[in-house]
Amino acid sequence: MTQTSNNTIDKVRVNLGPRSYDILIGQGLLANLPSLFSNVGKATAIFAVCDEHVQAQASLVAKGFQNQNINVTHVVVPSGENQKCLDSAAKLYDQLVDSHADRKTMVLALGGGVIGDLAGFVAATFNRGLNLFMVPTTLLSMVDSSVGGKVGINHPKGKNLIGAFHQPVGVAIDIDVLKSLPDREYRSGLAEIVKYGMIMDADLFSFLESNAAGILARKPELLIKIIRRSCECKAQIVSQDEREETGLRAILNFGHTFAHAFETIGGYGKWLHGEAVAAGMVCANKVSLNRGLIDESIANRMVALLKAFKLPTDPPELSSAALLEVMRNDKKSVRGSLRFILATKLGAVSLFDDVTEENVKGVLSPLN
Ligand SMILES: NC(=O)c1ccc[n+]([C@@H]2O[C@H](COP(=O)([O-])OP(=O)(O)OC[C@H]3O[C@@H](n4cnc5c(N)ncnc54)[C@H](O)[C@@H]3O)[C@@H](O)[C@H]2O)c1
Ligand SMILES: [Zn+2]
Repeated sequence: MTQTSNNTIDKVRVNLGPRSYDILIGQGLLANLPSLFSNVGKATAIFAVCDEHVQAQASLVAKGFQNQNINVTHVVVPSGENQKCLDSAAKLYDQLVDSHADRKTMVLALGGGVIGDLAGFVAATFNRGLNLFMVPTTLLSMVDSSVGGKVGINHPKGKNLIGAFHQPVGVAIDIDVLKSLPDREYRSGLAEIVKYGMIMDADLFSFLESNAAGILARKPELLIKIIRRSCECKAQIVSQDEREETGLRAILNFGHTFAHAFETIGGYGKWLHGEAVAAGMVCANKVSLNRGLIDESIANRMVALLKAFKLPTDPPELSSAALLEVMRNDKKSVRGSLRFILATKLGAVSLFDDVTEENVKGVLSPLN
């Protein structure tokens, strides 16, 4: 922990050799980024890509750089997943050219996962790679997408099909920005935090249970604690499997094979990602229960916690044949069974590649 002006700032280091970076978590950070991050103050110009819903915060960030005589070009991108496309990337390339960006220009992404992925992809590719700085403004992007270096855009035929690994040079998480985040988006982010508890941190899980009401009320001290712990979990996994090669990073997909199928068949936008993940984790636990991997009390505790966070805990009423079709394309193992990350106890998961379609069908909605 470090101290600036009047606030305490938590720090999480992501250890990746020469690509290591710090995540700072606190309040009132936005106006002081150049002094908080020494490497950032060295940029000669900032190309800030901002979500339309965080323009006030963008002005604060810009002022901080301008006070240090660093020029800021400020681009506002409309909100929505459909911005993660080649057209939007092309517009940003044009604006980078127009602003005479060079290798010392740093791209700053200010927004949720959409902005982080889009601006990050542009940073990874323009001029063979510009430095990227992340200022996540949704809970989901604070605990997930801004950490780990995956950037990308969608192809009409598939989400995140065009992308790269491009680690940021720093991440600033200012929880003050969450004040304006709509409730549903906030709760959706909580699902990913429950996920970290389930896959690797039983203490985090218990902390969420004991403090659910305060967390829903967005109490700053609780927010800082659960965001820091989530970033530590993700940093730990990413530092051991930066480019998804050892299989470790796959544990982050707990609940996600179900979730992707719900999102694809149900239609993106009907459920937010975290909502689909919540119901997906419940389904995954039912598979674990049926295999005797966990006992009922664990599955029940997770359902109770998700309910306390007002997240869905039942699978959507969609055709199991259609859902299975998506899962087959997604995660088929060599022997024709499906691959799933399943809980083996609270705070631990393993990869199973022998889950049958019958196992999966048994936990989907019977109403189809
Ligand atoms: N790269 C990765 O590792 C990774 C991981 C997980 C998810 N993702 C990607 O992240 C995206 C989803 O991210 P998201 O959930 O942050 O959604 P998002 O970026 O679409 O933001 C959600 C909504 O909140 C608004 N918003 C953002 N910050 C706000 C604030 N502080 N106040 C008010 N409104 C605000 C946005 O305008 C938008 O309408 C998906 O495209 C997903 O593929 C990437
Ligand atoms: Zn997710």
